[in-house]
Amino acid sequence: MNSKAIAEFAPALIAWQKTHGRHDLPWQNTRDPYKVWLSEIMLQQTQVVTVKDYFSRFLAAHPTVASLAAASLDDVLALWSGLGYYSRARNMHRCAQDVVALHGGAFPQTAELLQTLPGIGPSTAAAIASLCFSERVAILDGNVKRVLTRLLGFDADLAKSANEKALWQLATQVLPQDGKPDDLWTAMPHYTQGVMDLGATLCTTRSPNCLLCPVEKLCVAKKLGNPEAYPVKTKTLKRTSQSLWLLWATQEDGSVYLEQRPTPGVWAGLYCLPVFDSFEALAAAVSPEDTSLLQDGEVFKHVLTHKDLHIHPVRLLMVEKPKTAELKIKGNWVAADAWPGLGLPAPVRKLLSAA
Ligand code: ADE
Repeated sequence: MNSKAIAEFAPALIAWQKTHGRHDLPWQNTRDPYKVWLSEIMLQQTQVVTVKDYFSRFLAAHPTVASLAAASLDDVLALWSGLGYYSRARNMHRCAQDVVALHGGAFPQTAELLQTLPGIGPSTAAAIASLCFSERVAILDGNVKRVLTRLLGFDADLAKSANEKALWQLATQVLPQDGKPDDLWTAMPHYTQGVMDLGATLCTTRSPNCLLCPVEKLCVAKKLGNPEAYPVKTKTLKRTSQSLWLLWATQEDGSVYLEQRPTPGVWAGLYCLPVFDSFEALAAAVSPEDTSLLQDGEVFKHVLTHKDLHIHPVRLLMVEKPKTAELKIKGNWVAADAWPGLGLPAPVRKLLSAA
C-alpha cells in the first residue's frame, strides 16, 4: 500500500474530527463502555436520529450494566419495542448478565475479549475497545468500508470473505501509529469516531462531498475520478428452492383453467395454472368425483433469479363438460385460441404449448 496513505491518513482524519466531526451525540464525551456498548448495538441497524431517544430512555431505566442484567427480558424487550431486530435486545440482555457473572460487572478492555460476549461482533468490539480503551484496532462497518475502499482504490469484491479480510488488514495499517502511549490514548477515539463521521457526512454512497474532504489529496478513487464505484460488492443472493403443484385442467375443446397470480409473489399478475404447495392441497381443490382423474406429470425445474422452482404438473382431462367438476379456485376457463394471447409465466406457456 502507498506509504503516503499510511503516514498521512490518520493525522489528517483526527485533525478533521476535532474540528468538523460530531461531538454532541448522547453517547459521546464518555469512555464508559456500558454507554458506548449500548449505543453501538443500537446503531448497528438503526439510524442515529432514532437511536438518540431510545438510548436516553434505556439509560434512564438502566443506568448500569448491573441494573440491565437484573431486569427481566420482558422489561428489556418493552424498552426496545419499535427498534426492530429484537435478537439485538435478547443478546444485549444476555451480554449484560455475562458481564456481571463472568467479568465482575466490568466490560473487558480488549476487542478480543469483548468479542466473546453475546451480540458483539469484531467491528463492534473494535469500536468499544478503541473508543473506551484506546486499543489500536480497526472497525469495519459499512461506512468505513466505503471510506477505505475509496481511499485505497481497493476494488476487490467484498462479497468474498478473503477480500474483506484483506481490507481489514489494510484498515489496521492506516490506524494511528504507536507514538508516545499518550498520543494513542487521545488519538484512537478521535480516529474511530472520525472514520465513522467521514463516512456518514462527506464520503456518502452517492454524491460524496470530496471538496470538503480532509483526505481528498490522498484518495485513489478521487484521483481516478470514480469514488462512487466503491466499494465493489456483488450481490450474494441466498438461493432457495420451492416445490409447487400446478393443476392443469383442460376440457375436450382445448380450453384450460387459469387463475391470475396475486401480487406480490412469484409471477405476480400473470395468468397461470392454479398453484398449490402440495399434491394434497391440489386434490382438495377439485371435486371428489374428479380426484381419480388426476394424473401426475413429469416434474421439471425452473430457475428464477434467487429461487429454483420444482414444478409438478398435475393433469385433469375433463372428458365430459364439467357437471360436477366445480373447481374450488378463483379462475376462468380460457379458450384454446385465447390463452396464447395472455401473459403467462414462461414455464407454463412451454408446458401448455407442448401438449
Ligand atoms: N454508527 C455506529 N457507531 C456510531 C457512533 N459512535 N457515532 C455515530 N454513528 C455511529
